[in-house]
Amino acid sequence: MDKRKFYITTPIYYVNDKPHVGSAYTTIAADALARAHRLRQIPTYFLTGTDENSQKNLEAAAKAGVDDLQAYLDSMAEVWKRTWRELGISFDDFIRTTEERHHRGVERFWRAVEKSGDINKATYEREYCVGCEEFKTPTDLLDGKCPLHPNRPLEKVSEENYFFRASNYKQQLLDLYRDKPEFVQPQSRQNEIRSYVESAFDDLSISRESKKLSCGIPVPGDDSQRIYVWFDALINYMTAVGYGTDDEMFRKWWPASLHLVGKDIIKFHCALWPAMIMSAAKSDGLLQAEDGSALLPERVYAHGFFTIDGQKISKSLGNAVDPLDLAKKYPFDAVRYFLLREIPFGEDGDFSTKRLEERYASDLGNRLGNLVNRVIAMSAKYFDGKVPQTDVEAAGEGMDDTVWDGAEGLAGLWSEAEKHIEAARLDLLLDQVWNSDGASLTAANKLVEQTQPFKLFKEDPEKTAIVLYALLEACRQYAWMVEPIMPNVANGIIRQLGQDPDVEKAKGIEELKKWGGLVPGTELHPGEVLFPRLIS
Ligand code: MSP
Repeated sequence: MDKRKFYITTPIYYVNDKPHVGSAYTTIAADALARAHRLRQIPTYFLTGTDENSQKNLEAAAKAGVDDLQAYLDSMAEVWKRTWRELGISFDDFIRTTEERHHRGVERFWRAVEKSGDINKATYEREYCVGCEEFKTPTDLLDGKCPLHPNRPLEKVSEENYFFRASNYKQQLLDLYRDKPEFVQPQSRQNEIRSYVESAFDDLSISRESKKLSCGIPVPGDDSQRIYVWFDALINYMTAVGYGTDDEMFRKWWPASLHLVGKDIIKFHCALWPAMIMSAAKSDGLLQAEDGSALLPERVYAHGFFTIDGQKISKSLGNAVDPLDLAKKYPFDAVRYFLLREIPFGEDGDFSTKRLEERYASDLGNRLGNLVNRVIAMSAKYFDGKVPQTDVEAAGEGMDDTVWDGAEGLAGLWSEAEKHIEAARLDLLLDQVWNSDGASLTAANKLVEQTQPFKLFKEDPEKTAIVLYALLEACRQYAWMVEPIMPNVANGIIRQLGQDPDVEKAKGIEELKKWGGLVPGTELHPGEVLFPRLIS
């Protein structure tokens, strides 16, 4: 197995509605992490897709007056795929759970769980919330209603179904959380999961009668039942990389490095999903590590929930922000920056266009855009349109009587950046680049104020060359630090510095990190506006 690989997933989205800023958040975070790994030349596979065997979708099709369910699913899946494409999301694969490749993998998985002795039939009487696509126990309810969907009547279900003996894996799950606490991220969620498994994790119904439910994958060998949507949906993470169709591909990519999910679906990903794999692995060697243990995903990271201007995103309030509308109003890199910067990853937060515009003006326009523009314009003006000729090593030194730490400070930023990428904390990465001492954007802007190159040039052109070279080189390094989050902005900076972003990227991150990547005498291309004024 190639250890140096990165397989990242988003949840697969229900197609009962189009994407909103909440679903875009998960997808953008996954995209940025995928780009960060690609920049490090780590083989990367980034998966997203749609969850189509859901009762919610069936209801939405009926509401839209579409009789042909498949036609509805096709058109909605296209809406999701097109949205991500238009937003520049760099997914490698888009899986739909109505695809043949998925059905084949689900069948193989079901048979494995069955062979392990973990599927049995039992009669069930319980209440089902279509909003959550989940059976509810009395303790889950508040005044007899689902706390998340109080306006939706619960469905009473009483029928003979197939059950998954999840309780067989309770102890193994608890052992997993103890031995590999990093499996559940952020750390603040670990207790929640552990106590859920200890107190509430139990056998669950994994099928419904076909005559009552006209969507879903038929149970292998029993057409009278359809597989429960979550049981089929989770398996997408495997079927997309060949489970059931291409063993070689599966061996290459599985296990997933990181499942990014919202906090509302962490129980499914941190408890049900590993239990399902533990069961299937007992009968399917493809799911076993060399020591015979089950090949579980390496990490699940749960991010928080967004409100919009302080209110829950909801259809009835009509406040769902369409990311395509945002992309019309703001450069999309700025939206990405805002979403990933504003909220500590893992916590809840608020989306407000006022905050977005404030950050656009201050963080991006003033601190990044102005720095790049000024430094490139001054260099072009005083040094014949070129990167100043100077002693590159000397220019890497920290500067006396200034805040500037030079190459060493930048190297420190890089090593912090690596840790933050590993921990999926892009908010911290951005905070470092903007605000830390020594060689951040704040320090670079201060260096301009402290040295005043536009005055210094008359007195000391050689010192000016050193200062401007240091600042240009810092801009080059900032561009690569933020490239996963703002790929277009980064490319724009690199082009203005007279380099070709693709040629540079191909050199590999270790080269890009080194002081002196900018060659004195390189022709600069000033003028590209990185953050245009917003039209209100
Ligand atoms: N289909 C399931 C996932 C199956 S994965 C095997 C599902 N789909 S969903 O469309 O309802 O939600 C997908 C993701 O969007 C979830 O991670 C959810 O947390 C996220 N978000 C939905 N609304 C959100 C906010 N308001 N804020 C942040 N994320 C939100 O669940």
